[in-house]
Order: sequence, then structure tokens, then C-alpha cells
Amino acid sequence: MRLTEKEQAMLNGEMGPGFARAMRVLVGIGKAFGAERMVPISRGHISLSNQEGDLWFVSKLLEEQAHCMVPPTVNPAYDYEYFKTISKLDEENERTLKSTIDVYRKLGAILTFDCTPFFENNVPRFGEICSFSASGGAVYVNSVLGARTNREAAQSAMCAAITGVTPEYGLLLEQNRAGDVLIQVEADVDSEYDYELLGYITPKKMGQAYHCPVFNGLSKQTTSEQLMDLGTQLNIHGIVPMFHVVGVTPEAADVHTAFLGRKDPPVVTITNEDLDQARAEISAGTGKADFCILGCPHLTINQVGSIAKMLDGQQLAGQLYIFTSTSTKELAQRMGYLDIIHKAGGEIVINSCVDQPCWSHLYGMSGVTESPKCAYYTKRWNMTFTVKSIPACIQSVLKGEIVS
Ligand code: F3S
Repeated sequence: MRLTEKEQAMLNGEMGPGFARAMRVLVGIGKAFGAERMVPISRGHISLSNQEGDLWFVSKLLEEQAHCMVPPTVNPAYDYEYFKTISKLDEENERTLKSTIDVYRKLGAILTFDCTPFFENNVPRFGEICSFSASGGAVYVNSVLGARTNREAAQSAMCAAITGVTPEYGLLLEQNRAGDVLIQVEADVDSEYDYELLGYITPKKMGQAYHCPVFNGLSKQTTSEQLMDLGTQLNIHGIVPMFHVVGVTPEAADVHTAFLGRKDPPVVTITNEDLDQARAEISAGTGKADFCILGCPHLTINQVGSIAKMLDGQQLAGQLYIFTSTSTKELAQRMGYLDIIHKAGGEIVINSCVDQPCWSHLYGMSGVTESPKCAYYTKRWNMTFTVKSIPACIQSVLKGEIVS
């Protein structure tokens, strides 16, 4: 790789061992992927996992006097002060959480603890070079905003935030942003839940060989939430760093453009039967709805508002947790949504993620969620979910029984 004088000096340790370590990691990645040079980043986001390996790596960088030249936003962990009032928290986990927050703060990360920063406080422009980890975040940034990021690990995104550069390969290069399979949508795809089902079923139908599907046949009125849901569910198993929606996303004005002129792509058709199959696979549960978790990824103010409307004047039979960002919660309070949700017996939870060790009070119980990703990630935590649309989730937790 060709490095600039400044990059070479960093690699040689002239800015200290932490910067040298971060640059070594990036040079290693660059060589592995055949990158010829580094390019500057202007934004970053880190999928802080709050796990031991994550903490070990960032602590090492801090000990070696690194700090972020491009301060990144970070994914949620869990809100300790809230969860200690409702769940049984382990002391070891508490130490890991507090140390993780402390180290990220000292390295200069912006402690947003939110998995949809691209809606609020970290919104890349078209063509901007970024370093985003978090599979849902990276796919939204590439596909919907037209900014450029590889789907980074937490560690490589932190190294990019520290050095201010990232190796130029993969989705940073125009030619790798072309679609590789045409998804002809013949199904009726209208609601947010339909987009989730589409995101769930598409990788199963197209197989593992393709990584940039081009959806044709979807509405031009698609909302940001629907596109976020599509991207998130396409990546439950992490194979789709980018997609195009013809006539909607910025690099897909038409099919020809989305494929960068490449002719005769393979075609996969999605029908109503496919969506029915997805619905049957993930939504078939019956029985009790002890609890409901919504917001994986974090909900927008529009989504919180629609939930508040459904709950107005009602009383929940089960427990309801709605994840969102700190600023959306603040807005929900101003709009009166928080009050309605509290009166119904529900809660808006900030800074938090389903995939964290803070849910012991729900272990062994039966829940509903709108997110296939939530249902998948929480299997290791002994939580059982049935996936339904947000309205069906709310109806279920109001009744305490799964409704269709
Ligand atoms: Fe967000 Fe955690 Fe889900 S980071 S997308 S709530 S797994």
C-alpha cells in the first residue's frame, strides 16, 4: 500500500503506540483486500458491543495514548440505572459496562448509544467516505444515503476513527457498488412489516452468492422507516452490505444505472406466496404474550407516535419496552406520547439493545416483537419471541395473548 508521509509516520509510532497499533490494523486489512491507499473518513459509527473482547481492544488503545481524530457515534449497550430497577444485574457485567463507557468516552467517542444515528446526529452526505460498523447502519448509509462505507467491525471502525483514514477497497470503490441480482417484487409490499418480511425472505431466495440486490417494483413513496427495516432484516445473517431500490435509492435511478450498465443479471422473483411463507415462519406463535419489545433497530418519533395512539386510554396486560434514542424520547415527552405510554403501563427505554445481559427478568417468558433480528439475537438469552407487525404486537401485549 502507498501511505502518505503522515500515515507512514503514524505507522512508525511517531504519534505514539496507540496510533501505530490502529494504523497497523488498517494496513493489514488494506493489504488483505488489495487496497492501494488510505482515504480520509469524515464520519464513523461503532457497534460497541459491551463485551470483553471489545473492552480489551479499546482499553489497549487508550493505554497507548490513542484518541479519536474523527469522533464516532456508538451503538447502544444498556441503561444500567433503569435496568437495575427491573432486572437482576450481574456485578461482573456491571463492571464491563461501566469500563466500556469510560474507555469509549476517554477515547473521544460521542456517547449516543443509538443504533439509528443516520436519522439524527450522524447523517452522511451522498458520496461521503465513512467508517460505520453495525450491519443495519452500514447498509442504510450505503443504500439509502449513498454515502460510502465498508461494513466494518467495531475494531476497524475504531482504528479508522483514531487515524482518520480507512483503506480504499470494497464499497468505497464505484465498481463494487453495482447490483448483482435483480429482485423483481410482484408481492404486495405496503406496511413496514411487509418490508421486514421482504428483507427476511430475500436472502433465503437469492442464496449466499449475491451481496447487492436491486429491488424493482417497490413503491416510490417508500418511507425511511421501511427502507431501514428492509436493510436491517436483509442483514440478520450479515450478507448484504448494500441494496438498491429502483427509483428510490440514490444510485438506482433505473435498473440499468443500479447495475452500472451490466447486462442480463440473474433475476429472483418475490411473490405474495413468498411473503406468506416468511410470515408463517416467523409469526406462527400462539399463546401468552408476557412482554413486547419494539425498536430493534431504534424506533423513530413517527413510530413512537403511532404506538402512543394505539395505547391511548388502554391498559397493558403484559410488559412493553420501546427502544429509541435519547433525543426521540425527549421529543416523545414533549409530544405527550411518553405520558400515554406510561399511563398504559409501558416504557420507552434509551441507550439499550436487546442483545445485552439486562433481561434476566424475562428469561423463559414468551414475548412478541416486530423485529426478526430481535427474535434471532435473543435466542442465546433464553427469550422466546413471536414476530408480528407493530399493531399486532401492541394488540397482543394489551391482551396478554398473541393475536394474529
Ligand atoms: Fe439496535 Fe441492538 Fe437491535 S444495536 S438493531 S437494538 S440488536
